[in-house]
Amino acid sequence: MIHNETVDNILSRRTIREYEDRQITDEQLETLLGCAMWAPSARNGQPCHIRAVQDKALLDEMNADFKNLVGWDTPAYTNWNKNPFYQNAPTVLFMYGTGENYMDGGIMVENIALAAKSMGLGSCIIGSIGGLLASDEGNKWKSRLDVPEDYRFLIAIAVGYGAEEPAPKERKKEQFIVVK
Ligand SMILES: Cc1cc2nc3c(=O)[nH]c(=O)nc-3n(C[C@H](O)[C@H](O)[C@H](O)COP(=O)(O)O)c2cc1C
Repeated sequence: MIHNETVDNILSRRTIREYEDRQITDEQLETLLGCAMWAPSARNGQPCHIRAVQDKALLDEMNADFKNLVGWDTPAYTNWNKNPFYQNAPTVLFMYGTGENYMDGGIMVENIALAAKSMGLGSCIIGSIGGLLASDEGNKWKSRLDVPEDYRFLIAIAVGYGAEEPAPKERKKEQFIVVK
């Protein structure tokens, strides 16, 4: 396998669920948004919209709304009982699509995760909050985040200075086959 800066950045990214209590810089946030913006999209539709939230009170309110809806003890998500959905990260980017643009959103969110890693930041992609934001009960959050009513929640990603170094998770190598 070839190793270079880009490849090693991809290989060494891990989901981070513990964060330091310090905010990322405006320049780092601008870089994350720039890298998101330059993600490819189907037919260059550019359907994804991001709301970058750095307001802890808002995130905690959303977390309470979320857990009240799906249950405080639901063991479905990692760190469910220990951390809020956003893993106490100082910045969370919420992505909405003009339609069901899950593929475009997935590509964009990985751009953000890798850009974060390249700047020494950790990240955690967050689908669980869709339990609230993609539901009827979550509609109130569209106005809070200044998102039009008819947009769909796609995915979120928490970003900050990581406070853990998790071990790599085993990959299913047998799923990758070369046909020549
Ligand atoms: C679409 C998607 C949704 C995810 N949602 C959550 C989530 O809601 N909460 C969480 O803690 N991790 C979430 N993750 C992180 C995965 O659990 C993590 O990527 C996986 O366990 C592999 O670990 P790694 O990223 O360190 O390789 C999500 C990842 C993806 C790609």
